Amino acid sequence: MSATIDDVQAYWNRRPCNIRHSTAEIGSRQYFDDVEERKYFVEPHIPGFAQFERWRGKRVLEVGCGIGTDAVNFARAGADYTAVELSEVSMALAKQRFEVFGLKGNFIHCNAEELSQHVDNGAFDLVYSFGVIHHAPHPNQIVREMRKVVAPGGELKLMVYAKNSWKDAMIEAGFDQPEAQNGCPIAFTYTPEEAAVLTSGFTITELRQDHIFPYIVEKYIRYEYEPQPWFKAMPEGMFEAVEKRFGWHMLITAKPA
Ligand SMILES: C[S@@+](CC[C@H](N)C(=O)[O-])C[C@H]1O[C@@H](n2cnc3c(N)ncnc32)[C@H](O)[C@@H]1O
Repeated sequence: MSATIDDVQAYWNRRPCNIRHSTAEIGSRQYFDDVEERKYFVEPHIPGFAQFERWRGKRVLEVGCGIGTDAVNFARAGADYTAVELSEVSMALAKQRFEVFGLKGNFIHCNAEELSQHVDNGAFDLVYSFGVIHHAPHPNQIVREMRKVVAPGGELKLMVYAKNSWKDAMIEAGFDQPEAQNGCPIAFTYTPEEAAVLTSGFTITELRQDHIFPYIVEKYIRYEYEPQPWFKAMPEGMFEAVEKRFGWHMLITAKPA
């Protein structure tokens, strides 16, 4: 039997994304600062992709904000920020994070497959979604909904998992799993051709791959960052070249067609 939206919601409620990025008291200022530091240390390509500063004074909709790391950066940059999120446990932490830092944002608990019923249509300068829709039962439906809510002349920024990637090869060979916690009910992957179909209704202006997680997991969970010996042995520049060709994150920027 295939996984349902309830399975997806239960999974992300059990362990919100990046919840263990800090050992400080969950919900404290220190906790959120640690989470941000670790997230952008491990995924340093995110700020360059999101371009937080570009959205000052613009309406930004984030689909699947998780515990709100990118969220606070859009808000700090001066965006008029709205999030939708399926996991109420994650969303509660994102809301608390905004309170801790005195930021303004709107948070809506819903399934993004029904996005246009919950937010203004044709209203958002940016629809942003990082690592979310490939976990839903119907990602194409979410993109159709995104198309309804993006403003004319607006932009879509989407990260989905890449099929032609080091990580996918390791998952297939039994060396890895898609998420930190096992049992992720859904994690679709895409080729560039499949991504073009996924984003129909939009015209892709940029599509690239990035991100290989290089660290020894047993050390990483103890907050130590030692690369696997095969990555450590690579000459400078080689790891980045492999990331660009075989990265797990497919970073898509698109305009409404
Ligand atoms: C891997 S986490 C990414 C969270 C955040 N974007 C980040 O980068 O930290 C995936 C998130 O997508 C959310 N999600 C999955 N399916 C969803 C759906 N159909 N509607 C809204 N959110 C969804 C999950 O609840 C989870 O918080």
